Amino acid sequence: MIVTTTPIAGQRPGTSGLRKSVQVFRQLGYLENFVQSLFDVLERHEGATLVVGGDGRYFNDRAIQTVLRLAAANGFGRVLVGQGGILSTPAASAVIRSRQAYGGIVLSASHNPGGPEGDFGIKYNAGNGGPAPEALTEAVYRRTQTIDRYFSVESSDVDLGTLGTTQVGGMAVEVIDPVATHADLMETLFDFGAIRRLLGSGDFRMRFDAMHAVTGPYAHEVFVKRLGAPEASVVNGAPLPDFGGGHPDPNPTYAAELVAAMFDDDAPDFGAASDGDGDRNMIVGRRFIVTPSDSLAVLAANAQLVPGYAAGLKGVARSMPTSAAVDAVAAALGIPCFETPTGWKFFGNLLDAGRITLCGEESAGTGSDHVREKDGLWAVLFWLNVLAVRGESVEAIVRDHWRRFGRHVYSRHDYEGVDTAAANALMARLRDALPGLPGKTFGPGTVTLADDFAYTDPVDGSVTTGQGLRIGFDNGSRIVFRLSGTGTAGATLRVYLERFEADVQRHGIDAQQALAGLIATAEQLAGIAATTGRSQPTVVT
Ligand code: G1P
Ligand code: ZN
Repeated sequence: MIVTTTPIAGQRPGTSGLRKSVQVFRQLGYLENFVQSLFDVLERHEGATLVVGGDGRYFNDRAIQTVLRLAAANGFGRVLVGQGGILSTPAASAVIRSRQAYGGIVLSASHNPGGPEGDFGIKYNAGNGGPAPEALTEAVYRRTQTIDRYFSVESSDVDLGTLGTTQVGGMAVEVIDPVATHADLMETLFDFGAIRRLLGSGDFRMRFDAMHAVTGPYAHEVFVKRLGAPEASVVNGAPLPDFGGGHPDPNPTYAAELVAAMFDDDAPDFGAASDGDGDRNMIVGRRFIVTPSDSLAVLAANAQLVPGYAAGLKGVARSMPTSAAVDAVAAALGIPCFETPTGWKFFGNLLDAGRITLCGEESAGTGSDHVREKDGLWAVLFWLNVLAVRGESVEAIVRDHWRRFGRHVYSRHDYEGVDTAAANALMARLRDALPGLPGKTFGPGTVTLADDFAYTDPVDGSVTTGQGLRIGFDNGSRIVFRLSGTGTAGATLRVYLERFEADVQRHGIDAQQALAGLIATAEQLAGIAATTGRSQPTVVT
C-alpha cells in the first residue's frame, strides 16, 4: 500500500545514524519517513538481502516490524533478522559480510539510556558491513525533506522468537541466531585454546559487565560456553529494554560498578564492559583502568602474539581526538598511521583498501579489518589472548608499554546538555581566534598548530571539514575542542587533553593532575565557564 506523508523536520543523521528520544521516534510516520527515504536513495535493492537487528532497547520490537513491512513493500527479497530482534552492531556487520548482504539496518542509540523516556536510533550499514558513508547519509537527509509517501504492506507481526523462515508480502524473513556468526569469526582470530587454559588455570578470574545491554548473550556464548569461564564471570548479562535504568556506556563514570569491583580487595585479574549495542569496550586491570587510547596502542604493539594478526599489521588509524600513543607504536613498527575525523565510518575506506588492520577511537572503540564496526567483544578477546601469552597482569603490560614508548597522558572532559547557542558561540569565537595563536606561549608551552581539522580521504579523495579545533604545543601537548554529533538534548562540548611524558619516574602520575596546566589553558582560551555556565565537566574520562 502507498501511504501519504509529509516531511518531518530534523531527520539529519549525526556521528552514527539518526538518534532521538523515543518520544520523537514514536511520532506518526517518523520511522517510516526515514526508512522510506533511505530505501528511496538506495539503488538496485530489488530482490536483495537486508540484515536487520537492534540492541534490544525499548521500541526495538515495534520498530523492527515496521522496517520489515517497508522492506517488503520496497521490493527487498530477503531480510535476515536476529532472533528476538537482537543483533549487536559488530554482529550485524559480521552477518552482512558473511552472507554478502546488500546492507543492514541497526536499531540502536548505542550507549544512550533506553526505556520510554530514553533514546532510540537507527543507522544504515552498507554492503561492506560498515556505517553509511557521508554522501549517502546526506542524500537520505535531503530525501526526508521532500518525502510525500511511503510503501508498506499490510501483514501481521512476524514471530521473531523462533529460528526459521517466514514470508512478509513477497519477501522472505529469516530469523537467525544473533550470536553464532560473530562467535565463529572470533574463533578464527584468537587462540581460544590458550585463553581457555588461562581461564581454567584456577588463578585467573575475569569479570565482564554487559550493563544489561546487548552483549550479555554474546559474552555468555563466548566466555562461558566456548571458553569455559564460570557463569559468574558475566554480570548484568540479561538484556533489558531500559538497561536496568542504567547508562550503558563503558567508562569509569557509568561503569562505576565494574570499577568498584576491580578496586576491591578481592578484585578479579581482568575486568571489561561493553555498551548498549556492543561496539565499545572498557578494559580494567586489578586497581588499574586502561584508557582507550592506550588500549589501542597496546593491542597494536602486541598484535604479533595473536594468531589473526601474527602476520603483521598493514597500518593503523585513530580518530583525530584519540591520543598519539598508537602513532608511537606505528613509528616503531614502520607502518603507516592515519588520523581520521571522529566516527567509525571514516575508517571504512582504509579498511576496505587494505591500508590498515587495526583502528580505534578515544571513546572506547577499538576494532580491526575483521568487520567494519568497532567491536567490544573482539577487544576483550584480544586482551585475553595477550594476557594468556604474556602471563603478566594488565597493569604490568601497560607500564611496560609506557617504558618502551613513553606515556601519552590523556583525558576527555564532557560538558553535556549545554545550551546549543552558547556552545556554538564558544566554538565560533575560538575558531576565529585560531589564526592568532601560533607562536603564543601559555602554561603548557608555545602553540605550534591551531586549526579546524579537515580530512581528505586517502582512498576516494573526499574532503570532510569542521571536525574539531586542534591546538598543539611545542612539547607535544594538545587541546582539542569539539561538539558531539550523537547527543539528543542540547549540545555536548568535548574537550580532549593530552600531554606526552617520557620520564618513567613520572608515569605513575594522576592524569588530571598531570593535565592541570592544559585544563587551565583550555578554560583561558575558550571561556567555558562564562559561556556555558558550567565550572566543571559533567563526565571526565
Ligand atoms: C561519540 C564518540 C565517537 C564515536 C561515536 C559513536 O561521538 O565521540 O568517537 O564514534 O560516539 O559511538 P560524538 O558524540 O563525540 O559525536
Ligand atoms: Zn555503541
